[in-house]
Amino acid sequence: MKKKTKFLVFLILSLVLIISVVLLQFVTRQINSQEEENEAQIIQELIHETNAQPEQNVLEQNELEPDEPEFYETIPELTGILFTTSFEDDFDGFEPRGDVLMERTREESRTGSYSVFVSERTQAWNGIRIDVTHLATPLEDHEFSFWVKPVDEVVSFNVAVEFILRGETRFRHMWEIDTESTTSAVIEAQPNEWTEFRAYRPFYDFDRVYLSIQTAYDTHANASFFVDDVLFRNIMPEFIFMDDLPRLHEVFADYFMIGTAVVPRDLRNSTRNDFIFHHFNAITAGNEMKPDAMQPRNGFFYWYVADDMVETAMDNNITMIGHTLVWHSQSPAWMNPPGISREDAIENLVNHVTEVVTRYAGQVTVWDVVNEAFPSSVLPSPAGEPVDWRSLLRQTPWLEAIGPDYIEIAFRAAHAADPTAILIYNDYNLNEPGKREAVFYMVKELLERGVPIHGIGMQGHYSLDTNPRQVEASILRFAELGINVSITELDITVPNSTGQEQLTNLQERQQAVLYARLFLIFMEHHEVIDRVTFWGLDDATSWRAERFPLLFNYDLTPKLAFFAVIDPENFIIEQGLRP
Ligand code: XIL
Repeated sequence: MKKKTKFLVFLILSLVLIISVVLLQFVTRQINSQEEENEAQIIQELIHETNAQPEQNVLEQNELEPDEPEFYETIPELTGILFTTSFEDDFDGFEPRGDVLMERTREESRTGSYSVFVSERTQAWNGIRIDVTHLATPLEDHEFSFWVKPVDEVVSFNVAVEFILRGETRFRHMWEIDTESTTSAVIEAQPNEWTEFRAYRPFYDFDRVYLSIQTAYDTHANASFFVDDVLFRNIMPEFIFMDDLPRLHEVFADYFMIGTAVVPRDLRNSTRNDFIFHHFNAITAGNEMKPDAMQPRNGFFYWYVADDMVETAMDNNITMIGHTLVWHSQSPAWMNPPGISREDAIENLVNHVTEVVTRYAGQVTVWDVVNEAFPSSVLPSPAGEPVDWRSLLRQTPWLEAIGPDYIEIAFRAAHAADPTAILIYNDYNLNEPGKREAVFYMVKELLERGVPIHGIGMQGHYSLDTNPRQVEASILRFAELGINVSITELDITVPNSTGQEQLTNLQERQQAVLYARLFLIFMEHHEVIDRVTFWGLDDATSWRAERFPLLFNYDLTPKLAFFAVIDPENFIIEQGLRP
């Protein structure tokens, strides 16, 4: 086929595709409102938030009005710890769950002389449970841990949390610790060995709440096991919200927006919530709008968490940034499995982009449409020569399935879905000359061909080794394209700080100075910079928490870097340095 005909055929195909997608949407929307609830249910199963034992609900609800057990009077005063037991004197509030035998025994114990032995089980949900209503605080994060020792077989355990509010019961699982995703925690315990289970989750609002030790995945229904050394604690540190601090977004009101990435936990805690809206006038979902979060299965859109975030942003009159539509990471495999045809892949891509952008049209006003289309580093080409950007693209499933034009297809679909949204190409290491030029030439060509791309997102995951002059060079280079830059994911790690309790004075000063230098540059070029977004709130919950990358400590008190950012020039001078 001639080039022209090929292009025509492609054009027609795309048109037909877009029309059918729109039609399909219309039809499904009619049918869908009823089904949404069901979908939510199935999706919840998918992310292991299963309604684990529905047949039990009614029974157990009616049974429950136990008196407050005595041990609640002896809550240890230790910070965060709400309850511990190793069953030395009593069951300490635990009760059988289902028709099981629950015994205190000296036969086995991990510490002290006793443990609890659970046997005669017939269902996976059979086990032991404890009422923690008077210990737990609604909407805060709680950790639950214990040790188990199965008899004779490998057994997987998890913990069901049973929230009862106004007569309705919701079963949920505890989540894995040390990940920000909401994976339900499961441990596999070897026979005749003690294994520790540790998990956490934010608690819903409740009138009553129980924790249950049970076997996972509906398996091991008959397994018997010992339990010892139980601990329950509140894991939210005491946050110190200093509401007299200058508000970051006000400090930069004449320059650019100041944003932050948030996860749902941030918005559920009232202090963190206040803190966010004190300092920031834009938020980006840390994970909740990524492809795997939005459409984990083909046609299954999990809107609920993202909806909440968008609503929160709207209620507080701040900008909601959409992150991200097309990426190789945190994307479900079904979208572009090996061997998928170009047509099917395009359909999946266009459909995903269209659905997500349409849903939030008018609310999410900025989208990171394509994320990280180039590899971490790109060798610089000889200076001055145009770069063959196609040959440098990151090898991703989208590239494999569709070819380099997946990028423009994504931008065109996003624009069609919301013509007013600002569409961004987002990537990291854009301060490096090779990658800077690759992105420059890609965007240049796309713009020349009328692709709706309105901004470049420099993620800004920097370290003390980052040269601020290179950051500036990229801002200026991208500005030549006539579009604006945003710093979309700013953080500065401190090399070799992993394992330290806190930064040394010197490290903290070095970091603060680099933040100051970067902000001086951002301010100088504010005309071409729309927004500076930090990737997270504090050093403890950052995705790079082990290297202290942000402006605030774990308890939300400001670091030196905060003071550097709000007054960069004077800060640098005060350090005896030249701005
Ligand atoms: C990170 C999140 O912060 C983590 O919680 C997650 O485990 C991995 O992704 N570039 C991006 C962001 O565009 O989406 C990434 O966010 C950090 C790197």
